[in-house]
Amino acid sequence: MRIEPAAAIVGHVAVPGDKSISHRAVLLGAIAEGETHVRGFGRAGDTEASVDAVRALGIEVDDLADDELIVRGGALRSGTVDCENAGTLMRLLMGMLAGREGFFVLKGDESLSTRPMERVADPLRRMGARIDTTDGHAPLQVEGSELLAIDYELPVASAQVKSAILLAGLGASGKTTVVEPVPTRDHTELMLEAGGADIVRRPTSVSVQASTLRLGEVEVPGDFSSAAPLLVAAALVPGSDLTVHDVGLNPRRTGLIAVLERMGAHVAIFNKRRSGLEPVGDVQVQYNELAATELDAHEVPALVDELPLVALLAAHAHGETIVRGAAELRVKESDRIEAVTDLLHAAGAHVKSRPDGWAITGVPTRLRGGHVEARGDHRIAMLGAVVGLASREGVDIEGAEAVAISFPGFYDVLDSLVRR
Ligand code: S3P
Repeated sequence: MRIEPAAAIVGHVAVPGDKSISHRAVLLGAIAEGETHVRGFGRAGDTEASVDAVRALGIEVDDLADDELIVRGGALRSGTVDCENAGTLMRLLMGMLAGREGFFVLKGDESLSTRPMERVADPLRRMGARIDTTDGHAPLQVEGSELLAIDYELPVASAQVKSAILLAGLGASGKTTVVEPVPTRDHTELMLEAGGADIVRRPTSVSVQASTLRLGEVEVPGDFSSAAPLLVAAALVPGSDLTVHDVGLNPRRTGLIAVLERMGAHVAIFNKRRSGLEPVGDVQVQYNELAATELDAHEVPALVDELPLVALLAAHAHGETIVRGAAELRVKESDRIEAVTDLLHAAGAHVKSRPDGWAITGVPTRLRGGHVEARGDHRIAMLGAVVGLASREGVDIEGAEAVAISFPGFYDVLDSLVRR
């Protein structure tokens, strides 16, 4: 894919439904009573894997439209599930299946099969789950068993681990409590609450007890993480003015807005409302000169998937930006610390990797551009495209099709916003 430099990014746009919430709607819909009608579903590679997963476990899903489906909740049957590239799917399923009758095999693609799974298997085993990993990775085997509640303090700030334990807690005897060192995305908690589960939320912990769920209707807002590359392109290209409409604004996801503001971008939020329990609104970004910033562990969960874009912002900002406390990026769909360092370096930026982030010296001018590799990682492909728009010479992306994991129409949407 060739991305030419843009003269400006201008217009109004919507993005596909939130990936995290779409996964949860399908998975929780499968174990809920009755039908769950999902609107605004973000159909993409990862979320289709969730639909295929519940179908493989005997659940009926009716596709009503590209962004709309009905999940008919019911009993799950034993089976093998291919989680493909989707870490959220595999980890949430582990928790969801651990206490259910049956024998389940979970496998994934090459990338997913290198990602750590003991962080989920270990707390679940403490609840009584029978889970075998392959040296800590997929493929996994889950043999359903009776579970006992636990109190668990997360050793890593991970919404996926938290969610897996909460889903196991839904079928365990006693009260399961998860304590979080830093708050992570709470879409699972909000959906459980909306579905009538016995759940109690406190500032740094959450508890659930055995419950039945009834979701009924789920409306999925636009994915802030899919809006992010567009918003960052507008922040980088002089003369830009972009508004993304109906996007999820859950405060545990929108750390990028705070970072953009403190770097000097002009950001405005309009039409704030709620879609179910999730906050939604329109976000406008107008170009302005950027200044360096510092970022550490307490901010990371609220922008974990946007950190590659923060590194690109930093490459264009006056001064030195340091990102710390982001070692989790090394175990995403690729090692995103190395992938971002190599990509930005190849495009002409001054960036050094650190064990837990980067040190980036910004130059407030366009990067050269060049050839970038997506490494099979959707967020790295999107980063490459934004680098191209904001560059002097444009970018060739190898493996550009990886964007379809979360945002299949990404390049067409970009194209519709670019002034040349
Ligand atoms: C997700 C949680 C985050 C995030 C991922 C989606 C989720 O992962 O990076 O893209 O839907 O719960 P971790 O929980 O591993 O931080």
